[in-house]
Amino acid sequence: MEQIKSKEYEVTIEKQDHFGNGIARVDGKLVFVKGALPEERIKIEIIKVQKKFMNAIIKEIKKSSKIRKNAQCPYYKLCGGCQMMEQDYQSQITFKKQKVDELLKKYAGIDTSKIKIIESKESFHYRNKVTFHGQGKKFGFYQEKSHSLIPIDACILVEKEINIIYQKILDFLSHSKNSNIDKIIIRKTSRSELMVIFEGKIKERTNLIKELQSFPVHSIFLNHQRIYGKEAILEQIFNFQFYILKDAFFQVNYQMMKKLYQIVIDYYREKNYSSILDLYCGTGTIGILITPYVKKVIGIEVVEDSIIAANRNKEQNQIQNIDFILGKVEDKITEFQGIDSMILDPPRKGLDKKTLQSILKILPKSIVYISCDPVTLSRDLKFLQTHYTLLDIHLVDMFPNTYHVESVCILNRR
Ligand SMILES: C[S@@+](CC[C@H](N)C(=O)[O-])C[C@H]1O[C@@H](n2cnc3c(N)ncnc32)[C@H](O)[C@@H]1O
Repeated sequence: MEQIKSKEYEVTIEKQDHFGNGIARVDGKLVFVKGALPEERIKIEIIKVQKKFMNAIIKEIKKSSKIRKNAQCPYYKLCGGCQMMEQDYQSQITFKKQKVDELLKKYAGIDTSKIKIIESKESFHYRNKVTFHGQGKKFGFYQEKSHSLIPIDACILVEKEINIIYQKILDFLSHSKNSNIDKIIIRKTSRSELMVIFEGKIKERTNLIKELQSFPVHSIFLNHQRIYGKEAILEQIFNFQFYILKDAFFQVNYQMMKKLYQIVIDYYREKNYSSILDLYCGTGTIGILITPYVKKVIGIEVVEDSIIAANRNKEQNQIQNIDFILGKVEDKITEFQGIDSMILDPPRKGLDKKTLQSILKILPKSIVYISCDPVTLSRDLKFLQTHYTLLDIHLVDMFPNTYHVESVCILNRR
């Protein structure tokens, strides 16, 4: 088999896999072709041969797809952060719906004729947080699955003000002989409050602070220590305000985050629930937003910065009917019984076995499961299905130009 590596073939792309790669066949064997789109006729070169499949790159597009467009980013092919910038937005939306549909059918046996998707108005400049890496005088993103740095001047997914600050920092560092920065994280709120977090060594620190202060940046950290400004930046979501601390999770697409949270608010507004658990609560956003419609909310979260922020947010918004617990969901959930409903918003790896078993012991009347990975979502829904029915599923396109999609599932106890 190894001799077919480096060989060239002409193939027709049948469909896309869940990461946006084109799928074709050579002598009956599956080939994944990076950047190829359905129905395209393509000359490919095999670059890797595995037991059950091969990987290939495009040598020449013989017949191009109607959905193909030029990527607006000069780094698109090198960086790997975006996977779908060469296809039009409507086809990205169709891809995301089909992907979730296929995964739910395959792993959970759920037929989801009910999938709805909320599209994003903006395909670019939507991210309010970015991490750039540094190697000597080079700054940019690591290439996919590697530590090879692609120098980048600006990222078209991040908000414009973030790119301007990044430019200022690059300019400063290019003149600063003895600075050595490994990481630059920039966060921004919709009120244009900005936080910059550096890791590494900065020589002329006061000059850099002066430069950023005038932008204005509101908060600067160096190696976990605050060197200028406020400890947290402030975000406004509907009528509530939220502090964002350095290490706390916060959704990165402000406009689409509001659409997602609105689905959850609308759901609880119509219920008459007494007790809600907001699991993996981050800075307490969702829990706080639903407090007007329920009697009591308890949020659980493992990151200390997030819980500190959540408690400040409770105070800032003068809310009485919410409490936050610092700890792992899998450990703390066992302390609860008689809960009406649970919000689950885990990281990509989804729910662990212990948590799933505890949920089935508590058996809330309903569950709102928010997920950023439809694979782990499908696995968890399969488990929960013994006692719950999927009532509704909404997709929210939080990450245009990438294969990622956020899902909100409403489950009812049978
Ligand atoms: C997708 S975020 C959700 C945050 C929040 N619901 C929001 O909308 O901003 C997942 C959160 O789970 C937290 N987390 C991860 N593993 C956890 C665990 N085992 N127990 C509690 N929290 C955890 C992370 O720190 C992160 O804040």
